[in-house]
Amino acid sequence: MKTIIFVCLGNICRSPMAEMMMRDLVAQRDLNQVIEVESRATSTYEIGNSPHPGAIAELRKENIPLVPHSAKQISQTDFDSAALIIGMDQQNISDLKAMAPEADRDKIHLAYEIMNKQKVIEDPWYDHKFDRTFHQLSEVLPLWLDQLSK
Ligand code: 4NP
Repeated sequence: MKTIIFVCLGNICRSPMAEMMMRDLVAQRDLNQVIEVESRATSTYEIGNSPHPGAIAELRKENIPLVPHSAKQISQTDFDSAALIIGMDQQNISDLKAMAPEADRDKIHLAYEIMNKQKVIEDPWYDHKFDRTFHQLSEVLPLWLDQLSK
């Protein structure tokens, strides 16, 4: 089993959307026995909370199956168990690199790195543009799944 963990600041907007969208792709490709998908926060701000209502509405609109979720902060066990750890923006990456054991730092990547783009998955927390989050994640997730299932 290979585990991919998506990480954002709060684990209520971008990374749970990434998790649920990727779980859907994994199921479509019949990879449930091979690939595990999780999501985590760098911060403690939203621990225990459900995904943002805007994230849930966007996933529903796009027919992505919803999975029960409560926000969790990334742990040392997560760094150890993951094959890939995908951050949404530069702040996530610098926080993750500071938190990770040195042996696990190479697992950490910026989401758009797979497209060689200097772009970030922008935070919808302030402007509620969850359709932008969906669109941006749709660009990169299939490519990360290709990489993980190689
Ligand atoms: P996320 O969005 O990192 O995509 O889950 C945010 C969630 C919570 C906060 C900021 C961004 N916050 O400041 O509590």
